[in-house]
Amino acid sequence: MQNTLYITHLNVLLQRYREALIHFKLDAIVISSGSVSYYYHDDNSHPFKPYAGAQQWLPFDLPSDCFIVIKHDKTELIWPAKQDFWHQINAIPEGDWQKAWRLTPVNNDKWCQALPSRCALIGPATLSNVAFSDALETWLNYDRAIKTEYEIECISRASKVGVKGHVAAQNAFLSGASEFEIHCAYLSATLQDSAYTPYPNIVGINEHAATLHYEHKDRNRPFRPLTLLVDAGASEFGYASDITRTTTVLDDDFTALKNDIDRLQQTIASKAVAGKSFIDLHNEMLLGTTTVLRQHDICRLSTEEQIDKRIPHHFIPHGLGHLLGLQVHDVGGRQTDRDGSVLPAPTDSPFLRLTRTLQENMVITIEPGLYFIPMLLDQLKANTANHGCNVNKIEQLIPYGGIRIEDNVVVGVENVNNLTRHAFAEL
Ligand code: GLY
Ligand code: MN
Ligand code: MN
Repeated sequence: MQNTLYITHLNVLLQRYREALIHFKLDAIVISSGSVSYYYHDDNSHPFKPYAGAQQWLPFDLPSDCFIVIKHDKTELIWPAKQDFWHQINAIPEGDWQKAWRLTPVNNDKWCQALPSRCALIGPATLSNVAFSDALETWLNYDRAIKTEYEIECISRASKVGVKGHVAAQNAFLSGASEFEIHCAYLSATLQDSAYTPYPNIVGINEHAATLHYEHKDRNRPFRPLTLLVDAGASEFGYASDITRTTTVLDDDFTALKNDIDRLQQTIASKAVAGKSFIDLHNEMLLGTTTVLRQHDICRLSTEEQIDKRIPHHFIPHGLGHLLGLQVHDVGGRQTDRDGSVLPAPTDSPFLRLTRTLQENMVITIEPGLYFIPMLLDQLKANTANHGCNVNKIEQLIPYGGIRIEDNVVVGVENVNNLTRHAFAEL
């Protein structure tokens, strides 16, 4: 990646942090990457993921035990240079990025004694002389929603890697693989191990596609595979892609349903422009779902009646999408200012993670779906008078599990840059 993209990104971050230094009357902000943690009573460690607020500053995968010190005119990276013959010692990565940094290798924590007294910490660490600031972290989280060109390039690269995995997963499914084998095909095609993926791969065949966060991988392929839902991404310098595709094998009504959800997904994605309320977009997705339910004779009620009785909510219980970045569900999705005011999710869509009005260069997911979740369908039948649903048809569709189509898009002023569709088109 061009160093100029990174340097411009760094300057945007510096500007945001300078404003925070002034607002909180600080002379320095310390950001920790975090430390390795261990399984209970075990000397095996959990896979390490750096704190996103630290990772944001550097164009390589940040290891544990790093600290970043930001002053008004200086960026310093405190690098762990322990003596250790058990573990790989991380060398400081080479590259032009170093020109913008003061690098301080350390093998103890004396460095923090030189910090100014007006100093605050964010991230998962405890320093004896610097207090953690929740308010500062909240302030900085708000701005993380707006991505720099460097960040968009990272997510775009992560999307290109992710779609290679999706194609490999689909081919594996169509060639007779089990969920576990499809998962392995995905990892192999994306050159990731399961600790490196931005979130645990979801690979569900048939009814498993109806479990929203199905993380088990069955080693036995079912007798009659009908549907494959894969929700999986990739990482680039800590930035995630978050992509879902649903594959069917028969030319039947469920495949027609999937194609209609795909069309709905593209229509909704094309409206994700600056100034649009994401709650409104979510509600437009629910309206579109009522039409699909009626066209497929799943629910015979009018759109108004379906919304009134919350029918689509039983078939699509999650939100339309979320902010995407260093965290898959990136921070600040319901924050309406730097101080931490929050716009909650609507009461009928409590899982909507993004309630903000869209702004240029937000990166978000658009992920409508339609699932046959027995628990929710039982609730619908038990609690909704005159629900208008075709129970026989629904029974026939339950073995297919469900559908989700998820793209990663960059919000523009007039247009939407759909990173996922572009990546598939380029393959
Ligand atoms: N992969 C989790 C999600 O789509 O939100
Ligand atoms: Mn998602
Ligand atoms: Mn996903």
